[in-house]
Amino acid sequence: MKSFKILTFGCQMNEHDSEKLAGLLKAEGYRESERLEDAGLVLLNTCSIREKAEQKFYSALGKLRELKEQNPSMKIAVSGCIAQQEGNSVLKRAPFVDVLFGNQNIGRLPYLLEETGGQASGRRAATEFPEGYEHASIPASRGNAVTSFVNIMYGCDNFCTYCVVPFVRGRERSRKPGDIIREIEELVKSGCREVTLLGQNVNSYGIITPPSPSYIKRGTEGALLGNINERYCDFPSLLQMINAIDGLLRIRFVTSHPKDLSDSLIDAMANLPKVCNAIHLPLQSASDGVLGRMNRKYTFEDYMNRLGALKDAVPGLAVSTDIIAGFPGETDDDFRTTLRALEDIRYDGIFAFKYSRRPMTAAQRLPGHLPENVKDERLYKVLEVQDRIMREKIGARVGLVEEALVEGPDKSGARGRLTGKTTQGKIVNFDGPPELVGRLVQVKIIEGKKHSLAGKII
Ligand code: 5AD
Ligand code: SF4
Repeated sequence: MKSFKILTFGCQMNEHDSEKLAGLLKAEGYRESERLEDAGLVLLNTCSIREKAEQKFYSALGKLRELKEQNPSMKIAVSGCIAQQEGNSVLKRAPFVDVLFGNQNIGRLPYLLEETGGQASGRRAATEFPEGYEHASIPASRGNAVTSFVNIMYGCDNFCTYCVVPFVRGRERSRKPGDIIREIEELVKSGCREVTLLGQNVNSYGIITPPSPSYIKRGTEGALLGNINERYCDFPSLLQMINAIDGLLRIRFVTSHPKDLSDSLIDAMANLPKVCNAIHLPLQSASDGVLGRMNRKYTFEDYMNRLGALKDAVPGLAVSTDIIAGFPGETDDDFRTTLRALEDIRYDGIFAFKYSRRPMTAAQRLPGHLPENVKDERLYKVLEVQDRIMREKIGARVGLVEEALVEGPDKSGARGRLTGKTTQGKIVNFDGPPELVGRLVQVKIIEGKKHSLAGKII
């Protein structure tokens, strides 16, 4: 029997793409292997957001080359953002890769495998890398029945100067509300109770841009298609429709751009009972100079005003963020402003990164690139400050009663131990019978650990 193993790098969007790739392969009669060594097809779904992610990919590829030398019938496929960014040059650089395809070509995987013509033929297949084609209706093979990812939009039009996403995921395209609702209704029928809506910038959901016809000259699509873009509904209205789906208990979404955090989204978060008390709102830096050069289109004051309004409207809101340390031209003063902001805002979680030079992006040409050791030191300081804040915040939850959605058995495998999440998105473990999976329970928090809570059902 044909077998596969997928190695996923990067964000939740990639994780979900891997679920779709697994769904496609299973529909073609492939079985998922536990071990890499046993797989007839190994697929690397790649990330290129930072240089480190690319290095991880190339070192995984090196290991696979060795495996393939021992087992020449093994096929190796590469997908995701590196494939999209580098195109066929990956095939040149790695002659043992059999199949290569970009983010807009996920649905072509079965055809590409066919084109390589069986394992001994030595033929290789790659797609073109167009932008703007969807793969929305591919049935995903999802890991967990209780919580699921659902794409609501693809791509990004923001062009933050450090970011490759607009180049590797293309222009913003939204799925139709009806397609999204139908997908969630189907998920609920098979036991799903919580959805995480995925998009690079969910708050600008709603513009449906038809794929560019090939006869339109590249670069002029925007002007020509501008008058036939449609707005089916905006993000708050979509949330309202999803909130009305019977049997669904919770809604989460990532990621929100602070500049698009509208009053109507604040209202929706405050008034729709299924929308969780959590938001990921990337700040990146608290210095207005740096924010300007990042092309973030807000000042620190704008950010604080939006966040303040949201916190006032949604009591008990958990806020997480992304921070980039050592952006080109970031001075000691700029950096101190960001550290102070972390102390003031006291985020529930952060993802912090040191600035990484990326191909195609505008920031690589900015003056004032900082030495690695300065970026390392700044990143270390951010993590140190945040570690303390997180410990304090987790500790402060001990004694509270929280509502948790039970997701399944505790990962440690301890008998009778369950795992779930609070509305704020914090992991909580507790004793209980397996029948509770998929239900909401009230849990008294008895201990705060480094990244999770321990509780007792009451
Ligand atoms: N260098 C460092 N961090 C980056 N991010 C995106 N591009 C880069 C880069 N070139 C971070 C941002 C973004 C998150 C997904 O990744 O903080 O919000
Ligand atoms: Fe990248 Fe900015 Fe778009 Fe986020 S909003 S995906 S950081 S360009």
